[in-house]
Amino acid sequence: MNDFQYKGSDLYCEDVSVKDIAKFIGTPFYLYSYNTLKNHFRVFNSAFEGIPHLVCFAIKANSNIAILKIFAGEGGGFDVVSGGELYRALAAGADPQKIVYAGVGKTKEEIRFAIKSNILMFNVESSQELFAIDEVADELGVKAWVSLRVNPDIDAKTHPYISTGLKSHKFGISMSEALEGYKLANSLGNIEVVGIHKHIGSQITQVRPFVDALEKIVALIDQLRVEGLNIRYLDIGGGLGITYKDESPPNPKELAAELSPILKGTNCTIIFEPGRVIVGNAGALVTKVLYTKQSEGKNFVIVDAGMNDLVRPSFYGSYHSILPVNKNSDSHKIVADVVGPICESGDFLAKDRVLPDLKKDAIAAVMSAGAYGFTMSSNYNSRPRVPEILVKGDEFFVIRKRENYEDLVKGEEIPAFLK
Ligand code: LLP
Repeated sequence: MNDFQYKGSDLYCEDVSVKDIAKFIGTPFYLYSYNTLKNHFRVFNSAFEGIPHLVCFAIKANSNIAILKIFAGEGGGFDVVSGGELYRALAAGADPQKIVYAGVGKTKEEIRFAIKSNILMFNVESSQELFAIDEVADELGVKAWVSLRVNPDIDAKTHPYISTGLKSHKFGISMSEALEGYKLANSLGNIEVVGIHKHIGSQITQVRPFVDALEKIVALIDQLRVEGLNIRYLDIGGGLGITYKDESPPNPKELAAELSPILKGTNCTIIFEPGRVIVGNAGALVTKVLYTKQSEGKNFVIVDAGMNDLVRPSFYGSYHSILPVNKNSDSHKIVADVVGPICESGDFLAKDRVLPDLKKDAIAAVMSAGAYGFTMSSNYNSRPRVPEILVKGDEFFVIRKRENYEDLVKGEEIPAFLK
């Protein structure tokens, strides 16, 4: 469920008409519903209420500090993968003891920042990283808590670019090397081994890969405990998919029904790192039709948002439904490509899509854009990044301003010899 619905012929986000926001803010912009964000977090969190757990929202999906603040207020923690994400979490008022830090390429500066911030733990992806953390922890005179990210070699059955749990992927330590990795970690003076981590991919729409991966990890936990390692946290990562078009992923309750019995048996505190399932359908990208044209019998709807604003269709061939903000009584449909202003043929938001016949100046909402939308946007073609708007009830708030041309060149300098 989400809070984007038609009232009469107008699309609303909660109790605000999207058209009215567009009039006030201009287009394009990202639009989020506070109520949907909060509800999605609550649904996920309560699905696992029977087991000791912590929901660490994956900041890479949506990093706006106002949105992070909503989850922090719900008792949530955060999964970060860079110093920048850690900075954002802290800026949103996160409890550092609810922050976990993953990623294959943490720098020593980032490790130092995380230790000084007193985060809960690092999810470590290689033995060299273990040495780096040990060194920094020694320098700061503390013991750093770590889990090892173990790659269970499971096919998540998702897009190859967002699948991470096969042994051919760069992530984690393989099952066969895990015990050795744990022994190494345990031997380092400034490391305390506290848990185990896995994450097999994103936009997963079946329960099976989660169960298969978990069973492998649980068997490993048993083996590690026999070796005397004190595994008390089990972080099962994120990855639960959402409906973009006609997918029918399990909802958090259904997933919990399958996983909880296994999770309970581990006697661990369970950490979850959901991203997309919380924010994906809580956001849309609102855009205006600049022009329409026909070329060789093909219809093009040219809008003011491009691949720099939402890269998923170009990058992964992802489907995002496109809704008119005002449903015209004319039910005439066309087949068209919805394209942006970027100078690349790969710049499209939809291909060969059956759409209402959107005319020049019509406004449309590209749905399910709350996850990996703004966070993957760029300034390509020197386009200022778009604002982010949060609706709560009958009010809306600018939670990130539209960039301007000065923002585009901020930090750039012309060296003296060119002056
Ligand atoms: N934990 C770790 C360690 C991750 O790498 C990720 C996502 C998550 C949690 C959250 O996964 P989620 O619940 O959102 O599926 N840009 C791609 C998705 C990349 C996902 C990367 N890792 C897309 O737009 O589909």
